[in-house]
Amino acid sequence: MIAQAPASRPLLGQAAIVTGAARRIGRAIALALAEQGAAVAITYRGSKEEASATVRDLQDLGVEAGALFCDLTDPASVQSAVDTAAARLGRLDLLVNNAGIFASLPLEEVSSEEWDAMFAANTRGPFLMAKAALPYLRKTRGRILNIGSLGGTHPWATHAHYCTSKAALHMLSQTMAKAWAPEVSVNCIAPGMIVQGEVGPDYEHFAHKTPMQRNGTAADVAAAAVFFATGPHFITGQLLGVDGGLGL
Ligand SMILES: NC(=O)c1ccc[n+]([C@@H]2O[C@H](COP(=O)([O-])OP(=O)(O)OC[C@H]3O[C@@H](n4cnc5c(N)ncnc54)[C@H](OP(=O)(O)O)[C@@H]3O)[C@@H](O)[C@H]2O)c1
Repeated sequence: MIAQAPASRPLLGQAAIVTGAARRIGRAIALALAEQGAAVAITYRGSKEEASATVRDLQDLGVEAGALFCDLTDPASVQSAVDTAAARLGRLDLLVNNAGIFASLPLEEVSSEEWDAMFAANTRGPFLMAKAALPYLRKTRGRILNIGSLGGTHPWATHAHYCTSKAALHMLSQTMAKAWAPEVSVNCIAPGMIVQGEVGPDYEHFAHKTPMQRNGTAADVAAAAVFFATGPHFITGQLLGVDGGLGL
């Protein structure tokens, strides 16, 4: 059963699943959705302890919450996580495909295994999650939010496989939006440089060249996620940059 929360919370009575949300950006998104009243299931792969801590913090916000193991590269693991989340929370209104991997390598040094691993996590994983969630989301006129990247629209030479996997995720968001309308809306956020406590000359360099004169935060991305979770269902197939103008 979904716990009752103050009626001012717009996501009260709704249930979300956020992938890779034990820590960092996914955790911030999960907590922001819970603040709006949503029951939240998070998935983790390696970060079991951090996932337990995040669940406790979600529950402290007065919502139903749980953590489920999910390896996005394994279709059976994905199906099990989605079915378990929907069964435990009683419904599914929102899927946030946040989990992903990032790597830096000269393009000519990317092996076929590294290329496939990047796409398995960043592109195929969100597809498998969305496909598994679709029957539940159709019942609730739900939503899917994919976390893409500024790298999906800008060619970063030493992150070619990452950039290409995110560009594919951006296109997947548009094709899913068209294929699954009118029941399900699908949108995508493209964060720029998001820092979470890291310091150093590289971060200062990016802050300086960002028109907004700072790097982004997990809270910036989470606020955009709340917009897509609570805003008009009519908005679909959109890509929203959260980059302080870095991509301009
Ligand atoms: N940070 C940035 O500056 C930035 C910029 C642009 C876009 N993004 C995107 O925003 C999202 C979140 O970024 P982040 O920096 O917070 O991500 P992150 O810490 O690198 O990864 C988030 C989580 O993804 C999970 N994950 C990775 N591979 C997985 C797999 N095969 N199966 C299941 N889970 C898997 C991991 O879970 P476990 O820890 O439990 O293993 C990890 O904690 C990502 O999609 C990223 O590409 C981030």
